[in-house]
Amino acid sequence: MALNRALIVLGPPGAGKGTQSRRIAQLYNVPHLSTGDMLRDAINRGTELGKIAQPIMERGDLVSDELIMAMVEQRLSEPDCSKGFVFDGFPRTLKQAAQLDAILESHGFGKPIVVDFAVPEDKLLKRLTGRWMCSVDGETYNIYEKPPKVAGICDADGGTLIQRADDRPEAVKERLAVYERKTKPLTDYYESKGLLERVDAGKSVEEVNREVRAILNRVDGQHGRV
Ligand code: AP5
Repeated sequence: MALNRALIVLGPPGAGKGTQSRRIAQLYNVPHLSTGDMLRDAINRGTELGKIAQPIMERGDLVSDELIMAMVEQRLSEPDCSKGFVFDGFPRTLKQAAQLDAILESHGFGKPIVVDFAVPEDKLLKRLTGRWMCSVDGETYNIYEKPPKVAGICDADGGTLIQRADDRPEAVKERLAVYERKTKPLTDYYESKGLLERVDAGKSVEEVNREVRAILNRVDGQHGRV
């Protein structure tokens, strides 16, 4: 199966963007481009970008558009991005979305497919506060909905499970407020371009995955690109 373009997964913190993006990227054999993961990697490696991003992320705010765009452009220039990619957590502001349009055009990818994940706030809070991630492969678990077979250990590779610093209640509150203010307007932006596909992401992981795959098949069918 070929993607040959960008899939953008929009949605609030904890909506399941990472969980689904990882699966779809695997299915199409294209890179999963999570700007959150890239920033956490920069923090772990102690780079200049990581030093700037860490306090901003821990309080739940957004890293500047300039730093994000430089990071994304650099990543898109790598050879594994030639057959399309899945964006998770990017774009997050109208400025990032407009700049991404120009980049996709210049790389010959044309219009993206944009899926917007909607989840009620009580579920988001449970997903964020119950989340644990594998320190090796990044696989995500949830102590309420999808616990690992052995507490604290990844089923797939035995890696230690860790909690994110920005899943503390105060940071979660700020992340949700920042999403409403700065990222939610992107749904109108993409809807006005006729690109927005809405997904009820409050359902199970499998159901959401089926819905996203159905959207990809339908859109590809319409454009005859597969
Ligand atoms: P980022 O890492 O992108 O975090 P986020 O958008 O807040 O989203 P999350 O990763 O918290 O949630 P998710 O939607 O991926 O859900 P997940 O699949 O993990 O960004 C972090 C920070 O980096 C930002 O706050 C900002 O500071 C900075 N940043 C990143 N990108 C930026 C940008 N472009 N511009 C500026 N700053 C940027 O699932 C959550 C939990 O729910 C898991 O436990 C999972 O197992 C569970 N779950 C998932 N799906 C389901 C389901 N269907 N049913 C039940 N449980 C489920």
